[in-house]
Amino acid sequence: MTELSSTLDVVPSARGARLRAHADAVFEQVSPYSGFGFRHHCRRLFRFATMLLERDGLRLDYDVAYMIAMWHDLGILSERDEGHHYLQRSVALFERETRDLNLGETPPQILRECILYNHRLMPVPNLSPVAECFRRAVLMEHSRGFCRFGLDRASVAKVFEEYPRGNFDRVLLDFAFRTLRREPLSLVTGIFFGLGHTPIAERGTP
Ligand SMILES: [Fe+2]
Repeated sequence: MTELSSTLDVVPSARGARLRAHADAVFEQVSPYSGFGFRHHCRRLFRFATMLLERDGLRLDYDVAYMIAMWHDLGILSERDEGHHYLQRSVALFERETRDLNLGETPPQILRECILYNHRLMPVPNLSPVAECFRRAVLMEHSRGFCRFGLDRASVAKVFEEYPRGNFDRVLLDFAFRTLRREPLSLVTGIFFGLGHTPIAERGTP
């Protein structure tokens, strides 16, 4: 892991700046929403995930983490990507948009897990510790900081202050309508609870 910045406050390397600019460009291209609510949601997620990674001493290229955070919900909106549910489509979008990029040393399967399992409400057996940070970051975000997984209350509150919520509640309502219309059952079986889907099965490990 080289030339990495841990937060948006630090100027990233040239490579990092390119990855983040690409992440932002794809986000703007796919997101139909005006206002900053959705963008700030993704940036809070990035901050929480990197705070947890840092606290736990885990290695992940933070510029790649930024891409994951900015695109983790785009499967709900993308018309180009395929999958049984929106998280699979977010993975498809991630893989399509990073096909020609150097994503560093983290195995692709771990990057997939970061997207595929971040909306699980309960701990996922055998999930990689890096992907667990994204799952916890989502819980921190949606509990508005009630869940902090041992992180300092003031640091978490500061992230919510730096990235105000804006119109994100309206965006969430639209997410719910889109998902209920397109894939109502997968919400239960594939996304929040993931019955029958585990990282072990994904990896093909016995
Ligand atoms: Fe999200």
